[in-house]
Amino acid sequence: MRSKVTIVGAGNVGATAAQRVFDRGYADVVLVDIVEGLPQGKALDMLESGPVLGSDALAFGSNGYGDTAGSDVVVVTSGIARKPGMSRDDLLLTNMRIVSSVVEEVAGHSPGCILLVVTNPLDAMAQRAYELSGFPKNRVVGMAGILDTARFRSFVAAELNVSVDAVSAFVLGGHGDTMVPVIGSAFVGGTPLSKLLPSERIDEIVQRTRDGGAEIVNLLKTGSAFYAPSAAIAQMVESILFDKKEILPCTAYLEGEYGIDGLYVGVPVKLGAGGVEEIIEFDLTEDEDAALRRSAAAVRELVDVMARASEAN
Ligand code: APR
Repeated sequence: MRSKVTIVGAGNVGATAAQRVFDRGYADVVLVDIVEGLPQGKALDMLESGPVLGSDALAFGSNGYGDTAGSDVVVVTSGIARKPGMSRDDLLLTNMRIVSSVVEEVAGHSPGCILLVVTNPLDAMAQRAYELSGFPKNRVVGMAGILDTARFRSFVAAELNVSVDAVSAFVLGGHGDTMVPVIGSAFVGGTPLSKLLPSERIDEIVQRTRDGGAEIVNLLKTGSAFYAPSAAIAQMVESILFDKKEILPCTAYLEGEYGIDGLYVGVPVKLGAGGVEEIIEFDLTEDEDAALRRSAAAVRELVDVMARASEAN
């Protein structure tokens, strides 16, 4: 029997993620949006691509949650995206309200699902989803680290003229200006990156990675990235549905790991059928450790703003 994946938000990220999952054929896809006709139209178009692609999966669009019932994985992409000049944090309160209403519906209709949060500011939205869903921490996970790491790996591969497959790396921390590329975890075909590039060049690549989302927003002008984000979502969905137990940088709830307690932050995790099955603790340098804590503090500030806004309502 095929699995069932619901994707909430039929915009750029959600619809492209739905397409990537549908194309592989192993899961039926339900696309949900508040805009009438949008999820229905995109899902029908997707379904009609099945005979050409060889996918027997079903794709269905809806403005409600009845058809999402019993989903194995629910991906939350609903919300507003950045425009030039905006930071991810500028989206906070609007997206908090959207994510809150969505998570209540999802928790009611798919109480056993794994909730994959994508809406920005990601770490804060994952925290919100965890608190509102009542799900155990392993079943609420955020997508950011794979995307940030993919950007870093792309730039390194281009710089060294090697396959992206040869480049392994981990970008941890919050999904924002405080993200933490762990240079000690970056290898190219087994050789440490630090032996292949001068540190000034690595610093430049790190900075471009940090600004990677803004670089695309500035080019697109009317929205933010979606090809790479949706590819990262599909990788996470696959690791969960096939119980692959990949070690991936994801946003997970920490309870003391890395010295951080009670907060969603990007760390390496083992991702399988149980969701976040383990938090992997890397050896960090003193600088990286300090950067991760700074990053966590930035996430904590957003979480506090959300708490104050909720109290005021
Ligand atoms: N329920 C369902 N869908 C909603 C809701 C809601 N309450 N509110 C908004 N949406 C839908 C919008 O109608 C829109 O179709 O979410 C979709 C968002 O799509 P885009 O505007 O294209 O944004 P996108 O680029 O997909 O980004 C979505 O992912 O990467 C993050 O920062 C990005 O937070 C943003 C999110």
